[in-house]
Amino acid sequence: MGNCFGAKLSDSKPSSTYPSFSARPSSTDTSKNYSNGLGYPATSSSIGHSHFSAAASDDTCLNGEILPIPNLKIYSFSDLKLSTKNFKSDSVLGIGGFGTVYKGWVDEKTLAPTKAGSGMIVAIKKLNSESTQGFEEWQSEVNFLGRLSHPNLVKLLGYCREDKELLLVYEFMPKGSLENHLFRRGAVIEPLSWDLRLKIAIGAARGLAFLHSSEKKVIYRDFKASNILLDGNYNAKISDFGLAKLGPSGSNSHVTTRVMGTYGYAAPEYVETGHLYVKSDVYGFGVVLLEMLTGLRALDTKRPNGHQKLVDWVKPMLSNKRKLKSIMDARMEGQYSSQASMLAAQITLKCLEGDPKNRPSMREVTDVLEQIEAIKEKPNESRSKSEHSSSHRHRQSPRSRQSPRQINDHGFSSARSGKNMR
Ligand SMILES: Nc1ncnc2c1ncn2[C@@H]1O[C@H](COP(=O)(O)OP(=O)(O)OP(=O)(O)O)[C@@H](O)[C@H]1O
Ligand SMILES: [Mg+2]
Repeated sequence: MGNCFGAKLSDSKPSSTYPSFSARPSSTDTSKNYSNGLGYPATSSSIGHSHFSAAASDDTCLNGEILPIPNLKIYSFSDLKLSTKNFKSDSVLGIGGFGTVYKGWVDEKTLAPTKAGSGMIVAIKKLNSESTQGFEEWQSEVNFLGRLSHPNLVKLLGYCREDKELLLVYEFMPKGSLENHLFRRGAVIEPLSWDLRLKIAIGAARGLAFLHSSEKKVIYRDFKASNILLDGNYNAKISDFGLAKLGPSGSNSHVTTRVMGTYGYAAPEYVETGHLYVKSDVYGFGVVLLEMLTGLRALDTKRPNGHQKLVDWVKPMLSNKRKLKSIMDARMEGQYSSQASMLAAQITLKCLEGDPKNRPSMREVTDVLEQIEAIKEKPNESRSKSEHSSSHRHRQSPRSRQSPRQINDHGFSSARSGKNMR
C-alpha cells in the first residue's frame, strides 16, 4: 500500500495545510528524549524535520503508511457550522471528556462543507474552548493522525482552528464505539457475538501493531473501548490520538511523562512511575480483551469492593477452565469452543503481565487472535446452558450502566485536571 515508509521523512517540506504550531512538551514532562507529535525536538519550532518514520522492512509495513506531510483539509468555523446545522443538539453523536462529536456533511470528492443531508456524513469533534489541555490534544491529533494511514486507524479528514475554536473532522463510523456495544443495553443494540468481538479485537490489534512498528514507535497511551470505533461492517478503527507519544529513542526502554490516560486501563508501571513503555499499550489492550470476554467494565465503582477493578478481580480466574466459564459474558453463550476461550484468556493474561518485558508484542497478540479466529471447532452443545446462564446473571447483578462520561470520571475528577488521569 503506497509508500511503506521506506524513505526517512526528514526531507519533507512543510505543508501549507499544516497548522502553524510547534510541538512542545508539557512543563512536567521530564524525559530528555521527549518529543511530541511527529518527533520534532522539544525545542524546535520547525515543521517538517520529522524523525517519525517506519522501520525499513516490508514486513513492518502492516498495510499502513506514514505520509510525509499531513494531507488535511482546513475548514473555517462557519464551514463546520453549516455542515452540522449550527451544532444542533440532534446532530450530536457523542460527548467525550474534551468536547462533543457532531454528525456533519461534506462533499464526497472535495470534502467541502455541504448542507446537512447532502454529500457524505462525517464526524466533527468540537473541543471545549476553555481547556488548554484540549489544545494539546487537538495538536497531537493533527500531528499523528494527519500522517498515519492504516485501515485500523480512523481517518482524520481535516481540522479548524479559529480563535479559540478547535475542531477535528473525521470519517464517520456508523456503528459507533465498542464501548457502546459492550455496555449500553437497549433495544437498538444487539449484544456483540463472539465472532464479532474477535473481529474487532483483531482489527484493533492490527492498528496498535502498526503504531508500534514504526521506527520511532508511536505509543498510543489511551487504549480503551470508547476509543475503538466501528464501521458498518464492524471493522475496528482506533481513534483519539490526543495522548499519543513517540516512543523512546536510542537504548532507552521508556519515556517518562505525566501520568495521563484512563483509570482501569492504564498499565501499572505507568501509573506508579510515569514510565511509559510501548508495552504499556499492550496492557491496555489486555484490559479491553478482558472487557470483551466478560462484558464487564474495566472499572466500575458500583461493583462491590474487590470487584471494582476488573483486572484485580478476574485475572486470577483466567487460567482456570471452570472459573473462566463462570466469568465469560453469558450473551455469547454457545458461540465459541472452550479451546478458543482458553486461548483468548491466555493471551489476555500475557498482555496483563505486571512486568512490561513479559508482555507480548502487538504483532504476537495479533497472530494469536488470528489463530483463534481460525479455530473451526464448534462449541460443545451438551454443556448445561441454564446452569451457566443463571450463575452469570447472579454474578452480574451489581453491574452498573454508566454513560461514556462516567467511565472517565470513575469517581475521580471529571475535568482532566489534577493528576490528569481520566
Ligand atoms: N468518527 C466517529 N464516527 C462516529 N461516532 C463517533 C466518531 N468519533 C466519536 N464518535 C462518538 O462520539 C463519542 C465521543 O467521542 P470522544 O472521543 O469525544 O469521547 P470518548 O472516547 O467517549 O471519551 P474520551 O474523551 O475519553 O476519549 C464516541 O463514544 C462515539 O460514540
Ligand atoms: Mg475517544
